[in-house]
Amino acid sequence: MARTAFTLLLLAGLALILSACQQESEAPPKKEAAAPAAVPAGPPPRVDPALAAQGKDLYNQNCVFCHQADGIGKPGFAPSLTNPELLSISSDRFLLATIRDGRPGTGMPPFAHLGRKNIEAIVAFLRSHATLPDRSAEVDAEPESHGDPRLGKFWFDQICSTCHGENGDGYVAGGTGTAIGKEGFLSKATDGFIRETIRKGRSNTRMLGFSGPDAMANLSESEIDDIIAYLRTVPSKN
Ligand code: HEC
Ligand code: HEC
Repeated sequence: MARTAFTLLLLAGLALILSACQQESEAPPKKEAAAPAAVPAGPPPRVDPALAAQGKDLYNQNCVFCHQADGIGKPGFAPSLTNPELLSISSDRFLLATIRDGRPGTGMPPFAHLGRKNIEAIVAFLRSHATLPDRSAEVDAEPESHGDPRLGKFWFDQICSTCHGENGDGYVAGGTGTAIGKEGFLSKATDGFIRETIRKGRSNTRMLGFSGPDAMANLSESEIDDIIAYLRTVPSKN
């Protein structure tokens, strides 16, 4: 415990120094990301039950081995696909394209051979587990990050790399977090999707949120954007 407190103090000190350096360099004032939008009240999306039933069969044939029954996932092996926060912020476009193309360099294979109709059925099955409203349009419309990748690297190395691996390599690095530094994820996720995941986390997984009093570490909106800016630079360095 004492060591954790000491590390936190050290981090806070370093952050102060870093932000002081930044002010001295007369950088133009950074645009803060939009404040988190209020969650619109509303029911989870309606799903065609026949399509979802067809999707369930396809899921059980193709995905259950890794993503487990009901898509609950398995830490360090495959993420949860029925997690409420994931379903709430991921568009059909994100899910369809991720399933079609897989994530090169990770355990997630491409499923283009199933064809679009079947992949749509699987997405309907996943969505039948949703408990929160679909906020994907609003999240994807959030402004792009204009953060500072150098500061973002500092935070990433200190906080995120423990689980996501150095350079966001994911499970191959031995942690429980996915490969968020690889093109397979970054080419499909908007800055709003990444920002919202960092803020809120994903309940019942090891990905806790980083915003608000219950956070693992309370990151400001501009620190979150610094991390996104850093992540965007990672694939080109590998
Ligand atoms: C051999 C194991 C394996 C199989 C089979 C598999 N996946 Fe995956 N899947 C993974 C892994 C590992 C990841 C995380 C990759 C990473 O590190 O980014 C993943 C990630 C995903 C994601 C992204 C989730 C997120 O949190 O962003 C989706 C969506 C997905 N898989 C859907 C499916 C579907 C649908 C099927 C069946 C058609 C399937 N997967 C089959 C291993 C698998
Ligand atoms: C204690 C471990 C842990 C830490 C620390 C952590 N994460 Fe995660 N993160 C996870 C796990 C686990 C998941 C996937 C959830 C699942 O398995 O269903 C995840 C998912 C994500 C995703 C969604 C990726 C996808 O494939 O859809 C993003 C983005 C993300 N984390 C960013 C971050 C950032 C940025 C930090 C540092 C500020 C961070 N995480 C710190 C464990 C962690």
